[in-house]
Amino acid sequence: MARDGALYVCQSCGAAQSKWSGRCPACAAWNSLVEESSGAPPGALRPARSGKGRGLAFEDLESQTPPPPRLATGVGEFDRVCGGGVVPGSALLVAGDPGVGKSTLLLQVCAEAARRGAACAYISGEEAAEQIRGRAQRLGLVDANVRLAAETSLREIVEGLKREAFDLVVIDSVQTLWSEAHEAGPGSVTQVRACAAELVRLAKRRGVAVILVGHVTKDGQIAGPRVVEHLVDAVLAFEGERGYPFRVLRGVKNRFGATDEIGVFEMGDTGLNEVRNPSALFLNEGGDRSAGAAVFAGIEGSRPVLVEFQALVAPSVYGTPRRAVVGWDSGRLAMVMAVLEARCGLGFAGRDVYLNVAGGLRVSEPAADLAAAAALASSALDVALPQDCVVFGEISLSGDVRPVSRTESRLKEAAKLGFSQALAPVAAEGASVRVSGVTRLAEAVTRIGEGRWQ
Ligand code: TYD
Ligand code: MG
Repeated sequence: MARDGALYVCQSCGAAQSKWSGRCPACAAWNSLVEESSGAPPGALRPARSGKGRGLAFEDLESQTPPPPRLATGVGEFDRVCGGGVVPGSALLVAGDPGVGKSTLLLQVCAEAARRGAACAYISGEEAAEQIRGRAQRLGLVDANVRLAAETSLREIVEGLKREAFDLVVIDSVQTLWSEAHEAGPGSVTQVRACAAELVRLAKRRGVAVILVGHVTKDGQIAGPRVVEHLVDAVLAFEGERGYPFRVLRGVKNRFGATDEIGVFEMGDTGLNEVRNPSALFLNEGGDRSAGAAVFAGIEGSRPVLVEFQALVAPSVYGTPRRAVVGWDSGRLAMVMAVLEARCGLGFAGRDVYLNVAGGLRVSEPAADLAAAAALASSALDVALPQDCVVFGEISLSGDVRPVSRTESRLKEAAKLGFSQALAPVAAEGASVRVSGVTRLAEAVTRIGEGRWQ
């Protein structure tokens, strides 16, 4: 093990080594080992204590005390992603790219909760109190009774939180905190882990809901690194494409609710506004949809969301044709293109293929396969889909179109937004929207090409 407590911790995966090397032996990341001298390395056994333990006090599964009620903050989209408000005594991590709007969101959450009578604190290690006040003024939140502090020392924060009783505490961000017990610099694995663990303990002990803000690194990992994800009860990712005003709060892990829930916000001059009806927002309103566009009837969490898939298939000027995709999985695009080529005779050789999910939403449902395929076929054949048509269905490698879950909700949402037809698996028959049922992708492509719809 390490001599004199010298320890080299990988800033990417958290593995500890006794010797420095240019490349982490555990995760193969370059230049990621940083010397940190801490007590016990992660995973190492603590020295055995002498004497016997007290033994476990086993308990029943059935709870004797009812759980404390959730604290609904008043920001509806945020509460829904949490599973109906934050849980007292729990710790939550809100992670996202720098500049996506984490501080804005959580200041609004704090202020709304305070307006509803909760005792709230907002502790920032990134901005001075004056800056936060300035933001609160711009957001029209100055009347809310939020206790504000600019602090990075863990000891001061813990002391402060012991002195006053709070219901909700926001720490912005966990990467700026430092604990004197560790020599490593702020943002290092050791510091982030130690500070987060201490705050999680504090949350549980004092029954406070603690929200930690975490930055995400370039490759999409929560910086400093995944250790925090294991410590907290819930992880919410705050996402948004640059250039779009829409922001999506997505449940990644949640011990108290569903993880596939999303909350949608729009960033405006006065902060983040909740978007109650995301379909209307993601659909490209105004103007007809041309060849290459297909409206996907998707499900995000508990809500149906309609979103437009746009494809462009064009002759390539490059030796190797380009394939670019935004908002969808590139592996999935390759698969759908391969099935279109092999089973439907639609060739993409020598042609560039671009696929874009409008509005900046990221779609991950397999049900989007048919929508992507319809958009690609529509562009390749230069035939527009009917304006009032939605598409959904999963595609298998054999070229079959498979039924997907929650068909009724998809069709209902489509009807609500004025769509009257659907290109979908035959199992979707018999709902408010006329379904043009297909079991084979080739069938769908023929219908699109011939404009023969029912
Ligand atoms: P911020 O909450 O500081 O992001 P984070 O904490 O995730 O780093 O938000 C930063 C961006 O949001 C900034 O580029 C400006 C924009 N913004 C608005 O467009 N409107 C607003 O009302 C506010 C407060 C910020
Ligand atoms: Mg911030």
